[in-house]
Amino acid sequence: MWIYIEKIADYVGQEITIKGWLYNIRSSGKLMFPTLRDGTGFIQGVVSKNDVSEKVWDDFNKLTQESSVIVKGIVSKHPKKVNVYELQINNLEIVSISEPYPISHKEHGVEFLMDRRHLWIRTPRQSAVLRVRNEIIQSIRDYMYSNGFILFDAPIFTPNACEGTSTLFSTDYFDLGKAYLSQSGQLYAEAGALALGKVYTLGPTFRAEYSMTRRHITEFWMMEPEMAYFDIFDNMDLIEDFLVYVVQRVIKNKKQELEILERNMDKLEKVRKPFPRITYTEAVEILNKKDIPLIKKTEDGEEFIRPFPWGEDFGAPHEEAVVEDFDKPVMIYNWPAKAKAFYMKRDPDNPDLVRGIDVLAPEGFGEIIGGSQREDDLNLLLERIKEHNLPEEEFQWYLDLRRYGSVPHSGFGLGIERMVSWICNLEHIRESIPFVRRPNRIRP
Ligand code: 4AD
Ligand code: MG
Repeated sequence: MWIYIEKIADYVGQEITIKGWLYNIRSSGKLMFPTLRDGTGFIQGVVSKNDVSEKVWDDFNKLTQESSVIVKGIVSKHPKKVNVYELQINNLEIVSISEPYPISHKEHGVEFLMDRRHLWIRTPRQSAVLRVRNEIIQSIRDYMYSNGFILFDAPIFTPNACEGTSTLFSTDYFDLGKAYLSQSGQLYAEAGALALGKVYTLGPTFRAEYSMTRRHITEFWMMEPEMAYFDIFDNMDLIEDFLVYVVQRVIKNKKQELEILERNMDKLEKVRKPFPRITYTEAVEILNKKDIPLIKKTEDGEEFIRPFPWGEDFGAPHEEAVVEDFDKPVMIYNWPAKAKAFYMKRDPDNPDLVRGIDVLAPEGFGEIIGGSQREDDLNLLLERIKEHNLPEEEFQWYLDLRRYGSVPHSGFGLGIERMVSWICNLEHIRESIPFVRRPNRIRP
């Protein structure tokens, strides 16, 4: 009977078949210990010269790393370790003998591995990350579905910018001029919310930014809910409920993978309601108490500005300094208008502020969510479009949402790879997606 390794515990004492690959093998005299993988997990087999035919023994000797094989054997519990199983192998069918495999079991440099990403993903660590990613996306979909959100797919080719004109990838679009790769599905999601109530988008988004940090990639996946009649506080309540659900479900369903990744589970367990909510102004006070300066790039290097000037956006050192006092995601709200996008709702009492929210992950993983209440006043929105030098004619359809039945509405965007990096405790975002795209990488 063909079974998958992830189900092995159900078959102790039974003869089963595994279809997979040889990950590693060591031998000692009349015993061989092949480690097999089948995509769902890894298992150690035991081959005893006395118990198998000569052909099976000889065939095992021919196997190279990553040869594809079908093996038959009896499942047993590991004599000492709990939740570990072994396969007492009695038969082997070789499907394909692998050529000498480029990724051996010694240490390799990251760029070497990245160049061979199509093979690197076969290793326990990398496949654990991709399984956690799958669980995160599935739990997002389940949360949204069971809370009444409609999946509302936004286009990738767009005629206008959403998050600033300096990070657009462009391409020729037939006779219609330039098209840009979407930076965010938000503007379309807003139309969706006014049509369907609560919607979300989930798809790839693009930023043409020459950022070589550990947190930026040029093609990333974003989940963007948008809700009619939600103000900024309703939005924060949703973010909290949603994040707790996703984190706790991943902990519950992906224990083994998180163990492979050596994730500190205590820290994830603490992700429970309520999350700290602080204003941007309070966050700046924290920075100044800790004497964290604004770092400005100048012609001859860097300039450190103290105290941190109110109105400036945060970088990685600021995010880290603000979250280090908390063990949960931190929601920073009421941002200076000049640091944020054109569509955020202006504070009626203070035109310098907008109702934006950034959610910073604990443990220094940085911003995972950006969101806001949206400007629902036609004239204020028009003003902002002009201030940002955006082409008014391309935004006419978006302005229609304020002309015809405008309502308060809010939403946010969760970066999937930032979320995966945090949950999996990844040093660098490049391992959070099957095939990463960065300024210096488009292959494989
Ligand atoms: O803060 P951002 O730019 O917000 C928006 O795009 C809004 N339109 C979302 C909305 O309100 N519907 O991006 C949202 C999130 C960030 O918090 C981050 O997690 C992720 O997207 N993100 C990136 N992830 C990886 N690489 C990049 N270059 C990213 N830029 C943003
Ligand atoms: Mg942001």
